Amino acid sequence: MTDTITIRRPDDWHVHLRDGEMLQLVAPYTARQFARAIVMPNLVPPVTTVEQASAYRDRIVAAAGEGFTPLMTCYLTDKASGDELARGHAERVWVAAKLYPAGATTNSDSGVTDIRNIWAALERMQAIGMPLLVHGEVTSHDVDVFDREAVFIDRVLASLVHDFPDLKVVFEHITTKQAAQFVADAPANVGATITPQHLMLNRNALFQGGLRPHAYCLPVVKREEHRLAVRAAAVSGNPKFFLGTDSAPHVVGAKESSCGCAGLFNAPFAIEAYAQVFDEDGALDRLEAFASLNGPAFYGLPINDELMTLVRGGEIVPDRIGEVVPYGAGSAFGWRIQD
Ligand code: DOR
Ligand code: ZN
Repeated sequence: MTDTITIRRPDDWHVHLRDGEMLQLVAPYTARQFARAIVMPNLVPPVTTVEQASAYRDRIVAAAGEGFTPLMTCYLTDKASGDELARGHAERVWVAAKLYPAGATTNSDSGVTDIRNIWAALERMQAIGMPLLVHGEVTSHDVDVFDREAVFIDRVLASLVHDFPDLKVVFEHITTKQAAQFVADAPANVGATITPQHLMLNRNALFQGGLRPHAYCLPVVKREEHRLAVRAAAVSGNPKFFLGTDSAPHVVGAKESSCGCAGLFNAPFAIEAYAQVFDEDGALDRLEAFASLNGPAFYGLPINDELMTLVRGGEIVPDRIGEVVPYGAGSAFGWRIQD
């Protein structure tokens, strides 16, 4: 049994770092593990201009400290401008743009109401090689919340991938067997990120002895068969699948509420959680590809030079970090980062 594993330093290809006090609290946790992270733009107001993104990047660098590179994204609205996207991409401010269907999740009210509204923007992104990051859920009230990802593939994503054959598309935080299959079958310009919670939890976790707000994120965790399919994809070694924590902190009062916010703060022990999953599935030798190689290859970026060593035996996750309850609070993942 391997008790130590050394990998290239990983990157997080999907994270919410927030702003203000929360940014100060959470950024160091992401920076402690990851060399780079794709930073989500769903602030209030959303990050829609190059100037906003550039200023936000400066605040992140100040909060995270040396040795961490935030990769910024543009929040797409119905009014998204191809020129603004191209300018930000050319100035190396924006690495990618994020599609939130309006109303799908936290701070998505300014999101896209109909994919046809951003057609010209997508054509421009395809032309300049700027990846589209997709929150893949429909929002119609007639669609069951557990089916929203699978229905999104049929109603939106399949035709999008067909109509933009050269657009790089990341299907973010996949949660279903349909999504894992869609990405596996798609051309190489389509990839997916996978969170620790969607590898570890099924929907029973939401109701384990009572209502569990700290297991609630969007897309919501699904049935066991879906968890197993997503997990098989993650540990398969297929280069289309890579690490994206979707760490999304909310203060405890906003989670433990009559209308609790979606999102788990998993940044503090993210790589430890992934290591546990790969270990349980006998795939520790594939952790490095998932965490440190596949993402850079997809984005066309270099892999990190530094190494990270993980050793067996995790520490207990604290009950609180500031006013936030971290993912796994009170328990331990099977691995820890060697100092
Ligand atoms: O659970 C989630 N939280 N899913 C999202 O898509 C957004 C995120 C947030 O920003 O809180
Ligand atoms: Zn997210």
